[in-house]
Amino acid sequence: MSQPLRIAVAGLGTVGAGTVQLLAKQHELLLRRCGRALEVVAVSARDRNKDRGIDVAGYAWYDNAVQMAREAEADVVVELIGGEDGPALATCQAAIAAGKHIVTANKALLARHGTALAQAAEQAGVALNFEAAVAGGVPIVKALREALAGNVVDRVYGILNGTCNYILTEMRETGRSFDDVLAEAQALGFAEADPSTDVDGIDAAHKLSLLASLAFGTELAYDAVYVQGIRGVTPIDIEFAGELGYRIKLLGSARLTERGLEQRVHPCMVDTDKPIAHVDGVYNAVIAQGDFVEDTLYEGRGAGGGPTASAVVADLVDIARGQRVPTFSVPATSLNRATLLPMDRHRGAYYIRLNVLDQPGVIADISAAFRDEAVSIESMLQRGRSPTEGVPVVLTTHTTEEAQMRRALDQIAQLSAVVEPPHMIRIEEL
Ligand code: HSE
Repeated sequence: MSQPLRIAVAGLGTVGAGTVQLLAKQHELLLRRCGRALEVVAVSARDRNKDRGIDVAGYAWYDNAVQMAREAEADVVVELIGGEDGPALATCQAAIAAGKHIVTANKALLARHGTALAQAAEQAGVALNFEAAVAGGVPIVKALREALAGNVVDRVYGILNGTCNYILTEMRETGRSFDDVLAEAQALGFAEADPSTDVDGIDAAHKLSLLASLAFGTELAYDAVYVQGIRGVTPIDIEFAGELGYRIKLLGSARLTERGLEQRVHPCMVDTDKPIAHVDGVYNAVIAQGDFVEDTLYEGRGAGGGPTASAVVADLVDIARGQRVPTFSVPATSLNRATLLPMDRHRGAYYIRLNVLDQPGVIADISAAFRDEAVSIESMLQRGRSPTEGVPVVLTTHTTEEAQMRRALDQIAQLSAVVEPPHMIRIEEL
């Protein structure tokens, strides 16, 4: 029997404690699967005496994760501290310098520093694995890096944030507003006290940038992700979406074409015929399109101690078995730098909701703005009649370029009969 794989865990929150619990509970199973034991030897967190449902007495304790990464008698450091810089980055850098492998669930850190960390890890001959960083327990990193290795993957997209998916699902099912549902989700512990990373799309953008790099073999380009969260989604748009045969989902979508790399996170109208339209609640789902395999769909829990620990341990198992694959599918020194496509160049169809005074000529003026920008209208519906108060007019368009759509909407917003700024949601072609 080989020597045990010695593991140091930095950060004992829900995922850290869950990982320690999983490793203890599945000790025999993992021993059989790896041919060696997976042993936690050291842990680090801020408060030694906090009750986490695990007994830390048997492990070397470090108040300082960087010191642990440097000094612990360990083969792997599991970084579960979180945050895009600070102690998480310093811990990973210290682990690499000390010749220790890294497993991390930290998407923010990798989105910012992933290319540099992967290069440093490769140079030091250690692994940098991150299955838990994207969609929690859903094995999408391994799928892209390993199972789909024989394909050119040109598109990867999905529901990458459980908090947003939960809020949008509740809004649809109950007709309540974003603020109402968010407040309830916070009270139930489904949403953070400061929800902005989730509801403003930042968490999904972190994950999308990692998926793009894995799928396309390109350098991380987090700053180039177009990001729009769900704060502006209203019950009336959810209702109209239903009437038009759509559901509103926050999708992250990355595509590499000859035009360049497009990465975007925003609310989308998704055809109810598509399986992803029915992924509800806190669930995540990712679709990867390969040239030989075609569409593949992965779905599961994107957060929580158990699912995320499951992904962390999968990475530890690879290291224990001596399985080494490049962090982002190709060696970090050979990641390509893609041409980055700005959102203005995005091409797609659009849902537009206007609040207008129902007076003669209003629709003609709106149509003229679309005509001037060569935007073709696909359908239009109007509810109610009021020459003095606003009534909703909903339009859908054929495929157009975002820049044209924005210019048309700017023109429409200037019309005196249009009484509030236009609401626009992109219709996603899946
Ligand atoms: N907060 C995330 C979510 C999980 O709601 O999906 C961790 O990225």
